[in-house]
This record gives sequence, C-alpha cells and structure tokens, in this order.
Amino acid sequence: MCGIVGYVGSRSAQEVLVRGLRRLEYRGYDSAGVAVAHNGAVAVTKAEGKLDRLVGRLEEAPLPGRAGIGHTRWATHGVPSDRNAHPHRDTTGDFVVVHNGIVENFRALRDELEASGVEFRSETDTEVLAHLVAAHYDGDLKEAVRHAIARASGAYALVAMTAREPGRIVAARMISPLVVGLGRGETFLASDIPAVLDYTRRFLIVEDGEIADVTRDGAAIETIDGDPVERSPITAEWDAAAVEKGGFDHFMLKEIHEQPEVIRRTLGARMQDEVALDGLSWVEGHPSEVARIWITACGTAYHAGLVGRVLFERLARIPAEVAYAHELRYGHPLIGERSLSLAISQSGETADTLAAARLARHHGARLLALTNVVGSSLAREADDVLYIWAGPEISVASTKAYIAMLVGQSLLALWLGRARGVLSASEERKLAAELSGLPAKAASILERLDGPRRVAEHLAGAGSIYFIGRGLDHATAMEGALKLKEISYIHAEAMPAGELKHGTLALVTEGTPVVAVVTQQEVHSKMLLGLQEVKARRATVIAVAYEDDEEIGLVADHVLRIPRTADPFSPILAAIPLQLLAYHVARHLGRDIDQPRNLAKSVTVE
Ligand code: G6P
Repeated sequence: MCGIVGYVGSRSAQEVLVRGLRRLEYRGYDSAGVAVAHNGAVAVTKAEGKLDRLVGRLEEAPLPGRAGIGHTRWATHGVPSDRNAHPHRDTTGDFVVVHNGIVENFRALRDELEASGVEFRSETDTEVLAHLVAAHYDGDLKEAVRHAIARASGAYALVAMTAREPGRIVAARMISPLVVGLGRGETFLASDIPAVLDYTRRFLIVEDGEIADVTRDGAAIETIDGDPVERSPITAEWDAAAVEKGGFDHFMLKEIHEQPEVIRRTLGARMQDEVALDGLSWVEGHPSEVARIWITACGTAYHAGLVGRVLFERLARIPAEVAYAHELRYGHPLIGERSLSLAISQSGETADTLAAARLARHHGARLLALTNVVGSSLAREADDVLYIWAGPEISVASTKAYIAMLVGQSLLALWLGRARGVLSASEERKLAAELSGLPAKAASILERLDGPRRVAEHLAGAGSIYFIGRGLDHATAMEGALKLKEISYIHAEAMPAGELKHGTLALVTEGTPVVAVVTQQEVHSKMLLGLQEVKARRATVIAVAYEDDEEIGLVADHVLRIPRTADPFSPILAAIPLQLLAYHVARHLGRDIDQPRNLAKSVTVE
C-alpha cells in the first residue's frame, strides 16, 4: 500500500514530488508528505487527507531544494493524521524515510529503541526505520539502510535520505514494488512507472532484496549482501497522456469509455482466424498436461476468475477452481504438479495474490500470470505471462482491466479448447469471430448512456440492492454489486438467482431494488420464473439483457440492453451497463468516485 516517490536533479524537488504523488494517489490517500534537502538540512511538510491539503501547505510555505522524497499513505498502523503521515524523521531530524508496506516486528524494535531512550512521535511502524537508519549511520547512508533492513522483517519498500549527504537517496525493496526512472542529470524513484512518466520513459526495476543507491547521475543497484547488480533499463510503452483524464469528469468514466479499444488491444495480434497466444511457452508446449487450473485473485480480478473458471470448463473441458488468494494461502489446497496456477492481478503487486501464486508453485504448479503491468512482481515470477494491455488504470474501482481480464481468459480458453481437441476448428472460428465483434458491440452500449443514468436516479436512495444471476450471469452480478458498493457506499449483495428464495427473499419488500443479469440462454426461463417471485414481493426489477429479449420486458421495471453475443462472452458486455449504473449512482450521491473512502488500488500488504 501507499505510494513512494523520490527525486534528485536540478528541478524543484517539491514540484516533481507533488506531480508524482498526484499519479500515485490511487495507492492511498489518507495523508501525504514530502521531505526536501536544502542548505544542509531536510525540511518536511505533511498533511492528513488528500494531496490537495499538502499542496495548500506547500503553496503557503514552499520547500526549496533539488532532492527529496514523498509519500501518499493508506493507513495500516496508526490512524490517518498529520503525526502519522510520512516522511518520518529520526530524533536529530537529519534522517527521513518513507515506506510502503508493513514492518512486521516493529513492536519489538520500537520497545528496544524506546528502552535506549528514543522518543517516538507517531504510532506508525515506519518510524522505527528512521531511528534504525540514524542509529546505524556511520558516514554512509547505504550501509545504514542495509543495517536497518537487516533488522526489520516484513514486505515493504523503504526510501531514505539524510541532510548529511544531500543529493543521495537510498532505497531498498523487500517485496513491495520500486522502480528507478532515469533522466539526463536527474533520477527518480517511484512505486510505479506512471508516477514519473512526465519526465522519463527509461526505468530500472529494483528487484526483491535489492538496494538502489540514487544520485542525479543514475542508480547503482546491489543485493542486500552487497553484490553489485547489472540491470538494463526498460522503456515504458505508456505515455503521459494515458494517465490524464482526457476531458472526462472522472478517470472511471474515461476508463469505461476506453473499453472497446481495450478489448481490441487485448485481442490484438492474438486473434486471426484462430487464436494464437504470444509467448506462453510452457502452456503452448504442454496443453494436454494441464489436469486442473487453479485461478487465484482478489477483488475485481477474482470476479474475472469466476468467469474464467466457467470458460475453461465449458470451452476446454479442464476442471478449474477459483479461490480468493487470501483464502487459498491458508486453505491447504490440493494443488498437484499437473496443475496450472492462473494468478490474475491488474497491478501484479497484490500481496495476497503473489503469496498464493508462490504457494501454488511450491506445490509444483506452473504459474501463468494474467496482468496489466509489464515488469510487475507477478509477471517476473511467472513461468508465462498473458498481458491484458489495458493501459494504465487510475480509478480505484477497476473497469477496463476487468473487461480485459475476461477477454484474455476467453482467448486462453479457446486456445486450450482447440489444442486439446475439445473444440473443432469451425467452432473455434465461430467463437473467435464473436470475440472480434465485441469492440463494436461494447461501443454501441456506450452510445446508450441514458438508461443507466435514469435508473441510477431511482437507486440512489436505496439502502440495499440485490444483484442476481445464474452461471456466468452470477459472476457479472458479483462484479456489479462490488462496483456499486465501492463507489456509492450503498450496501449491495450478489447471489445466484436460485439462492434468493432460500433466505434473502425475506428482505425483499415493496420497492427493494433487484438487479438481474439475464443473458444465459440455458437458464433464461428459470431466471424469468425467479423474477416473477421477486415481482410478487413488489420489488423493483432492473434487468441487464440482450436487446432482442422481449420476454424480459414483461417482468422487469427497467431493462438495460446489450447486443447479443455468444453466451460465454456475454459477461464482457453485461458488465458495462453495471459499471455505468454504479458510476451514475455514485455521481448522483456526490461521492468521490475515483478515490472512494478507505480503499486503495493496489493492496501490497496482507
Ligand atoms: C484492491 C482494489 C480492487 C482490486 C484488487 C485486486 O482491493 O481496490 O479494485 O480489484 O485490489 O487488485 P489487482 O491489482 O491484484 O487486480
């Protein structure tokens, strides 16, 4: 969690840090702060709340200086407050640190430091690192950092600076992500690439267990044991415009509108007459060796996995399981050597997903990553990577990455189905043609914005909203409910439609909104029957259904229409009206759509 940025060069450090933090704010927005070195001292300014509060303080009292570090926080230890905001200092004030992640043994370290007379100013685990760096300093910041991290266990990234060596920043990566941006006579540090895309597209990825010693001339990387590391820079494909709102009121709305293009990109060169997977060397070489697929993920990516499970079983006849990563880790799963572990993560940095993927590998499974971020931890650890090419996703509530995850899994399921002889060439071609038609169909949904907007007005006053569907429609209902909860703060609950009558129906009374996803033909008549039962309780039914479905109009109060497609791919289209519905409800209620309370985009702590 949290976002880190660092800068050494000839620009105003404060300006670079604030711009970087603005791009990292999706990682947490409980507080923000910067430290800038100038004239033999380090000045710190920080503020509880959104970045703008910090900016206000910096406008009143700017910090001069050309080297500094900054932080945007998602609180783990200690409430959001000025005091707990980063950067944290040692007692002399000469050493400052920012940190992303958790120091697991901070309590013992704090007791030890307090016993030696150190007075703590915050409740954070981070502050121990500031005192440890200071305590181990003997003229070389890098050595002090090395000693400090040797004492601190956990998954984190640390960036330290001292007034005694201005122009030098030392960073360490202990699992949590960190990149170095290379400029001309200036060097950047950040939790992720978009933070400093305005300044450079050349990056060094700092790997787990490495220390980066940063000056304006570049960065020297070495292992925690002091062995130098040769690392070639990578060039980021994304450009700065991709991380701007581009005329939309919110990133979420912009990202929803990007979806036709995202589907096109994810399909990309992988889709000719038949599916060709790029660079999946292990999977491509051993399609018949996969006895079971273990899908693991969190949040929206987990909902994508729910769809994937059905696709792999239906189109490739491979038994598939899908498990929340945090459950799989502690669930004693029976993962065997002929298993393929499919870890899905937009960021590729979710701590639980990484841990579950490692566990699956430990049990002998091959690891296939489905991710958006090139060079992410998950991508680097996997045997094979299927990139979703959604481009940077800034809104905390995921939309386009979800759609791209569905498309990626559809391609994989088709390819596996064909490679294993389950699908005939003509069936594959037919389904591939359906996939190719999806960008235009998604675009046509985005031309009918009125429906979701109008329905949203009815829903904005609701206390609870129920989302139902059967089979793949249940997965879509889960994602629809999550979107609504995340950004509108209205309670929503999703369940298989057939389950409603086994308990939850007791909560359905006159006017209770029930959102029904009704695209799967096999269970269409069952859905209609279930909706009659709901209507009998005078609920208000909002349906998502194909545009040629006439029967649904007889039971639903409102219908959000989508173009017809092959049922296995309907989740790709059906999610879009539900994203728009959540967006408009949240907008109606005046919520902070791109940065909903208590959440962060990338959860890099357990
Ligand atoms: C956080 C975000 C969710 C996201 C989940 C998994 O909880 O708020 O929107 O779905 O993490 O993120 P990942 O990067 O692994 O897909």
